[in-house]
Amino acid sequence: MLNEMLPGYEGLVADPYPAYADLRASGEPRLVTLRNGLYGWLVTRYDDARAALADPRLSKDPRHAPADWREAGRGRPLEDRSGLGTHLLTTDPPEHTRLRRVVSGFFTPRRLAGLRPGIESAARELAAGLSSGADLVGDFAAPLQSGVLCDVLGVPAADRTDFQRWTAAVVSSSDPGEPGEPGDPDARPAALRALGAYVGGLAEGKRRAPGDDVISAMIAAAEDGDRLSGDELLSMIFLLLVAGHETTVGLVGLGTYTLLRHPEALELLRARPELIEQAVEELLRHDSPVELATWRFALEPVEIGGVVLPAGQPLLVALAAANRDPLRFAGPDVPDLTRQDNAHLSFGHGPHYCLGALLARLVGRAALAEVARLPGLAPAVPMERLRWRASLTVRGPRELPVTFG
Ligand code: HEM
Repeated sequence: MLNEMLPGYEGLVADPYPAYADLRASGEPRLVTLRNGLYGWLVTRYDDARAALADPRLSKDPRHAPADWREAGRGRPLEDRSGLGTHLLTTDPPEHTRLRRVVSGFFTPRRLAGLRPGIESAARELAAGLSSGADLVGDFAAPLQSGVLCDVLGVPAADRTDFQRWTAAVVSSSDPGEPGEPGDPDARPAALRALGAYVGGLAEGKRRAPGDDVISAMIAAAEDGDRLSGDELLSMIFLLLVAGHETTVGLVGLGTYTLLRHPEALELLRARPELIEQAVEELLRHDSPVELATWRFALEPVEIGGVVLPAGQPLLVALAAANRDPLRFAGPDVPDLTRQDNAHLSFGHGPHYCLGALLARLVGRAALAEVARLPGLAPAVPMERLRWRASLTVRGPRELPVTFG
């Protein structure tokens, strides 16, 4: 059964790669049904994946999906355009171009470079506070990225505990592919209301007294001509939280996991800390935190890998599979921190290329450099016993307890 071969299926989450290798070997996209009832054609080869990600005949707008598919995706902000679902990942040009212009002013290399010292010192401080036995996901990666996102959004220190509580309730229940995630689904509507009211007030304050943050930047850009409705603003903030938190925590968790499983790579990074930028790229390639890029829908019949997808069909790009394609990367299953020519697809490709890629890289580099400095780092539990996130999009260990010292 095809759906039994899928990542996200119990038992495959820790190592989906043999199943991906089988799918990739056949070369053809395959129609699969996911655990959450949504179905789509899965693309696993690097060349096909890269072409599909940038193909204008493949829409991101779920209103182009078949009726039964839309019914199954109702209420999920990445699969349904109502509610909080009008954002970059559910729109096509020219609507997408307009929304991206409004938010992209903040994500420039120059502006983000200014965040680097703060991110590095936050990582250093958090690492200094860790003791042997700590969980590198819950005690290190998650609080680091929460703080970074609060800085980016301009959430004042006094409000952060409430803000983080609401966003955890909203984000953790936004992907119904996650059985047993902490967070009560009934808490979501209440948290969403609280978050909406808070963000509305925050935006109002920033309209009067702009700060150096993404909400102020969006308001300023919108007032320059592109009007942004209240719902669009909230949807965009929601997207930044959903797209920016678990993914980056996943990078640190998966990166550490790979370094622990490949001690020679960890040793190399310790001996040559200047390799950190290359190392993070290779860790991103080796284990893509976003395992399946979000949905696309064929606007007309589209040929991929010798198969013609009929119009209206949903498609998923398996980034994690494409990044291990032996036709593109030599020795793809082994992390080589000195790898050159590493055009992985972990941040996507084309018009929807990750807006936060540079921010994620800054956090990933700062965090993994600290991890590599922990002396005698070792897993505190057998690696086979780790619990994994079973999300249909973001992959990573839920906890990663380690010993050191
Ligand atoms: C889009 C991965 C971190 C914001 C994407 C896409 C991928 C991705 C694969 C494209 C999805 C598609 O084409 O269907 C990642 C990974 C991250 C990360 C692996 C961490 C390691 C972040 C951060 C932010 C962010 C930190 C912001 C704070 C976004 C946004 C989009 C996006 C807004 C939509 C862009 C568009 O549609 O124009 N990301 N992301 N991401 N990401 Fe990230």
